Amino acid sequence: MYQIYQEINKQLNKALNAAFAKEALAAKKAGESLNPQLMPASKPDFGDFQVNGALTLAKKIKQPPRQIAELIVKQLQKSKEFNNLCYPPTIAGPGFINITIKNDCLSQELLRRLNDKQLGVPLVKSNDQTKEFKPIIVDFSSPNIAKEMHVGHLRSTIIGDSIARVLSFRGYQVLRLNHVGDWGTQFGMLITYLKLVIPEALTTPNLINIGDLVDFYRKAKKRFDEDEYFQKCSREEVVNLQQGKQESLKAWKLLCEQSRQEFQKIYDRLDIELCERGESFYNPFLMNVVKDLEKLGLLVEDEGAKCVFLEGIRGKEGKPLPLIIQKSDGGFNYATTDLAAIRYRLQCHPNGDGAERIIYVTDSGQSNHFSSVFQVAKRAQWIPKECKVEHVPFGLVQGEDGKKLKTRSGETVRLKELLDEAVERAKIDIEKRLHEESREETEDFIHNVSTTIGIGAVKYADLSQNRTTNYQFSFDRMLSLQGNTAPYLLYALVRIAGINRKGGNLDTTEKPLKFSQPGEWKLIRELLKFDEVILAVEEELLPNRLCSYLFELSQEFNRFYDQIPVLKAKEPERSSRLVLCQLTRDILKKGLGLLGISTLERM
Ligand code: ARG
Repeated sequence: MYQIYQEINKQLNKALNAAFAKEALAAKKAGESLNPQLMPASKPDFGDFQVNGALTLAKKIKQPPRQIAELIVKQLQKSKEFNNLCYPPTIAGPGFINITIKNDCLSQELLRRLNDKQLGVPLVKSNDQTKEFKPIIVDFSSPNIAKEMHVGHLRSTIIGDSIARVLSFRGYQVLRLNHVGDWGTQFGMLITYLKLVIPEALTTPNLINIGDLVDFYRKAKKRFDEDEYFQKCSREEVVNLQQGKQESLKAWKLLCEQSRQEFQKIYDRLDIELCERGESFYNPFLMNVVKDLEKLGLLVEDEGAKCVFLEGIRGKEGKPLPLIIQKSDGGFNYATTDLAAIRYRLQCHPNGDGAERIIYVTDSGQSNHFSSVFQVAKRAQWIPKECKVEHVPFGLVQGEDGKKLKTRSGETVRLKELLDEAVERAKIDIEKRLHEESREETEDFIHNVSTTIGIGAVKYADLSQNRTTNYQFSFDRMLSLQGNTAPYLLYALVRIAGINRKGGNLDTTEKPLKFSQPGEWKLIRELLKFDEVILAVEEELLPNRLCSYLFELSQEFNRFYDQIPVLKAKEPERSSRLVLCQLTRDILKKGLGLLGISTLERM
């Protein structure tokens, strides 16, 4: 349950607690635990809040609930704070208390938010100045070197970025880590293969492009599976690399650099900031993971491999499943690196990041991996009790046919091409619109608008879905000007910004606000939900909640603007309504920004 209007809510709870305590005291039951159970009203007609606790209290002190509710209402009305905040409460049904916030308070809160950079969203730091803040790590994107960055990585990138933005906005220190797959057996194969077919590529930067690299990787893998001698060479190559042999390291660095450049192009287009810290970073710590698990008595030898048997997770024959920490050939696994990473990230400076929370954004296919890793880390007591590690899973990206997303010719979709197509389609839409409206715009304008819409649409379509479900990718749907889409919101924002421009500069400090229409109050109440929504996103890590809110807000705004004159109204109504336009604009802009979507002045 989330609170509406944070600040008002806090004050209200104080008054309620006092009233409840007094009633309990009167009934000589002061010791009872009393929760007023304040929550948003189930229907707008009932007011802003409802208080359900009178029923529970009545049961405890064995008195008629309605009577208790009446007594509590009387108590409330004796409180000056309460009367300043609310109209006289009403009682409904068996003893629910309905509460409506006074219009004056709502207007005041509105003004406060208009002049607040945070738009009413509290900063964590302001709660406690003395507390030292530890960073939150968001581990996202994390593609693999020499492999193509695919739509799954795109989802991770978009969702992870938005989560990181929301947390930063709340005032947390956020470390955005790109846990790139830059180590492992794939390099042995790749280097061996390149040595055979195009050795210059291992010493000359940019001789082959990433597309070729992916292709070489595929061929190398095939050869590895078929050819024993090739296998032997590849394994030797991995050993060379692990032992830090110059030539091998140089080749490895070159391959990484090449992939990195490609990834960076995508990040630049998506406006994503990431700190690359690939798997290779944790190499020096892998041996200690093994040693320390051994010391703790958690490690068991099974068919030559060192593993930890997992609790509560069983395989086919009911046997406990092992998490392999070190393979029989001495090599380490994906999970070993993640264990080393957890330790490093939670350990204090200078031996680690000293984080308090780690958020991993990957597809739900990795859920077992993370629950196993978390379990072993917990049993080894590598996760201090004040720290939290969470896997934030998401579903698959599907084509419109509900199957895995593919190009028309049946190949896997390349991200670059996917983004190009979104922008290209947005461009066609705009040119059509300009033509219909007989508008002339520069090439620059068209380029800028179509890029913003195209990229914004791809991001928004992804974020507006509950991430845990599979998501159907459809250019037509995401680029539509109707419905819960980026173009709809961007357009709403352009329109509101236009109204504000026409309205001229507002001096909100001098004139008192005046609202009288139900449509105004509805919009005001919607505007005041922004803080609640951000706090919900922070807790549940579900950006789609923010999307739904922004969509509802713009719809509420449209209803308001259709029914009620703004620019043509007289003072003080005109300025008051312009204040609503301005706050709607600020919240839409901020909200889209938190989704990583840039906005437009005109489109
Ligand atoms: N590289 C992995 C993949 O492509 C994702 C890594 C996620 N992060 C982590 N710490 N395991 O599937």
